[in-house]
Amino acid sequence: MSGVEPESGAVARRPVSDAAARRANRAWWDLDADDYQAEHGAFLGDVDLVWCPEGLREADAGLLGEVRGRRVLELGCGAAAAARWLATQGAEVVALDLSAGMLRHAASAAGSCGVRVPLVQADALALPFPAGAFDTVFTAFGAIPFVADSAAAMSEVHRVLRPGGRWVFSVTHPMRWVFLDDPGEAGLTAVHSYFDRRPYVEQDARGVPTYVEQHRTLGDRIRELVGAGFVLRDLLEPEWPDGHDGIWGQWSPLRGRLFPGTAIFVTTKPAG
Ligand SMILES: C[S@@+](CC[C@H](N)C(=O)[O-])C[C@H]1O[C@@H](n2cnc3c(N)ncnc32)[C@H](O)[C@@H]1O
Repeated sequence: MSGVEPESGAVARRPVSDAAARRANRAWWDLDADDYQAEHGAFLGDVDLVWCPEGLREADAGLLGEVRGRRVLELGCGAAAAARWLATQGAEVVALDLSAGMLRHAASAAGSCGVRVPLVQADALALPFPAGAFDTVFTAFGAIPFVADSAAAMSEVHRVLRPGGRWVFSVTHPMRWVFLDDPGEAGLTAVHSYFDRRPYVEQDARGVPTYVEQHRTLGDRIRELVGAGFVLRDLLEPEWPDGHDGIWGQWSPLRGRLFPGTAIFVTTKPAG
């Protein structure tokens, strides 16, 4: 997340079309890819599935269930460390991202650590796969916070999952939207309405969006999932672990001890 800041010329809360959001985010993630990896690559690892800045690992949480022999799609994969980890666990994984810059990191990490998975550049709103192609779809903070029509993204994931398949995704916890994007004391005071769904938009001098992030309340997320046909199995709000002193953007021990920073939705497509 780039930042929830008071309104100014460069930052606004305003509606943005799906096409404008896609254009902004592709360009932003292309430009930010090197910095993102430099800042977070060590925490994420080369071959690991870390769900959130709180450090919850799939190896401990098992949110995806059995993956050996399963066809798995990672959305918004970034450098695809998670997809590579799943490949080492015996899954048949495809890693997808909108950004060529992020996928460049995925390709070079595959070269350096020797674990390769197919990489696909595409939009989560238009997945280039047939219906029922996957047993499991997941993302850690990828794609979902950035698409304007997240209900359509849920339906698209539902389409590519086989009946009985699983969809698991982590996002910034919706209650973080209420606060400034600050890991310190300034991030402890409520300043925005939880119910203001207008996206957070960074824009250039001409008002063209350069970064767009979307807010949904917890109820909105559940409504979108149920509307797409999913059954909600669990909603995790990982607690900040003792001894974890890392700061990731607005995520910090100070705030993490007081309120949740991540929501992880575990859902299934009914078997039939
Ligand atoms: C916060 S990064 C998360 C990357 C990775 N999952 C991780 O845990 O580090 C968000 C990722 O979502 C990707 N993304 C944004 N919008 C997308 C879209 N519409 N379709 C697919 N990927 C998208 C970005 O390019 C970026 O790689």
